[in-house]
Amino acid sequence: MKEIKTISCIGAGYVGGPTMAVIALKNPNIRVNVVDINPDKIKQWNSDNMDDLPVYEPGLSDIVRQVRGKNLFFSTDIEKAIDEAEMIFISVNTPTKTYGVGKGMAADLKYVELCARQIAEVAKSDKIVVEKSTLPVRTASSIKRILSEQNKGLNYSVLSNPEFLAEGTAINDLLEADRILIGGEQNDSGKKAIEALVSIYAAWLPSERILTTNVWSSELSKLTANAFLAQRISSINAISALCEVTEADVDEVARAVGMDSRIGPKFLKSSVGFGGSCFQKDILNLVYLCRYYGLNEAADYWEQVIILNDYQKDRFAKKMVQSMFNTVSGKKIALLGWAFKKDTNDTRESAAIYVADKLMDEQAEIHVYDPKVKKARMMDDLNYLKTRTPEENEQLLTFENDPYEAVREAHAIAIITEWDEFKTLDWQKIYKLMKKPAFVFDGRNILDFKDLRKIGFEVSAIGKN
Ligand code: UDX
Ligand code: UDX
Repeated sequence: MKEIKTISCIGAGYVGGPTMAVIALKNPNIRVNVVDINPDKIKQWNSDNMDDLPVYEPGLSDIVRQVRGKNLFFSTDIEKAIDEAEMIFISVNTPTKTYGVGKGMAADLKYVELCARQIAEVAKSDKIVVEKSTLPVRTASSIKRILSEQNKGLNYSVLSNPEFLAEGTAINDLLEADRILIGGEQNDSGKKAIEALVSIYAAWLPSERILTTNVWSSELSKLTANAFLAQRISSINAISALCEVTEADVDEVARAVGMDSRIGPKFLKSSVGFGGSCFQKDILNLVYLCRYYGLNEAADYWEQVIILNDYQKDRFAKKMVQSMFNTVSGKKIALLGWAFKKDTNDTRESAAIYVADKLMDEQAEIHVYDPKVKKARMMDDLNYLKTRTPEENEQLLTFENDPYEAVREAHAIAIITEWDEFKTLDWQKIYKLMKKPAFVFDGRNILDFKDLRKIGFEVSAIGKN
């Protein structure tokens, strides 16, 4: 395999953008092109104002500032990027299908297929094609077929290189990755392609952290890793329901359980329910795969992780209404946070959307403050559900730039996202601004509840007594 001089990545999203920025930073001799069909997104990536970057990640803007225009380039010219590169990453979105066979379960691979077709059309030299998007096991063989169809006598290798970064810590997760997984065909050209990709990551990671496997194991490992992580959250959330009706405290249970080194302390934080673009989509995909192969018991097992997560979101919204004397109609409720977790502007599958929707069903007036999410995003999230008309959503949801305005005269606050800045708000002042009795609902225990009680809040939290 020739030396890699140029890498291109199709898809400048939450995964493609940060991953390529770090690869460019650590491989100054490689040109990295990031392309996207969305011209607005590319314009934002090229903006001089770092606050305009389409992805917010701590540390990302510093890296973009260092390498953009040197060896990192953002553009909409997909064909040129394909032509120039020896290695092409596919990092386009693979949402859950909303139509046809596998609707609501299977991953929609239409964008991935489009990329493969475009590569096959444009390529004039051998290419290593890297699946960065999360894909169902055995997708590589479909990509390979599409690529080879054109019969140009070119050699294509398809690698699977799933991303394990978590939003909000993406840059650190890339720089200090626990492991990099590279799956490839177990033949000569496959092994050379694997080596080429290993050398890119070896620019900053020790070789023992770079794991190579066959393609299918790599594809399936990504789905499995996300399913295991989500399963831990659903497990502790199931226990939180039990804690609420007994004298147990879910944080104390999590701590006691997590100190068993076989279990470990991470991902045991009870919450309003997990969000994000990956967990639900990947588990649905896993369930679909199991069913496809007739493994119904295995499918049911994993599906329960999603069922429990929906139950948790629903329970939170119901608990709010019940505590507020079974009616929230016409009441102002402040939501602090809309992003699916702190330190990101991403809102995909955020529990906030679901909780707001349920409260709006009860005719509550929702006022939202989030440090990074813009109003248009919130409205899009609600309109996508199609529960109400966009005009009704506009009427019931008010976007606030200031947390104190969001809580002024509010009957209740629901803390949905664990942003650090919420911890340092003046809670005494907030209490004074609110209607009485004032309620605080929290799914993530980010505040000291004893202190809140001292200043007069009715504190009611999921997972807390
Ligand atoms: C994506 C996938 O959703 C996920 O399955 C995988 O695990 C990682 O990659 P993400 O980067 O978060 O996740 O998606 P998103 O932020 O939506 O970015 C995808 C980008 O691809 C978008 O900017 C979109 O405009 C672009 N795109 C999509 C193309 O350039 N071409 C297409 O044909 C389709
Ligand atoms: C996840 C995986 O962690 C990552 O490896 C994969 O590449 C993509 O999917 P991400 O969705 O960005 O990353 O964030 P993550 O930190 O995993 O959080 C997902 C959701 O779970 C968030 O809503 C978070 O608040 C919630 N969560 C996390 C809990 O409710 N409790 C926990 O203990 C941990």
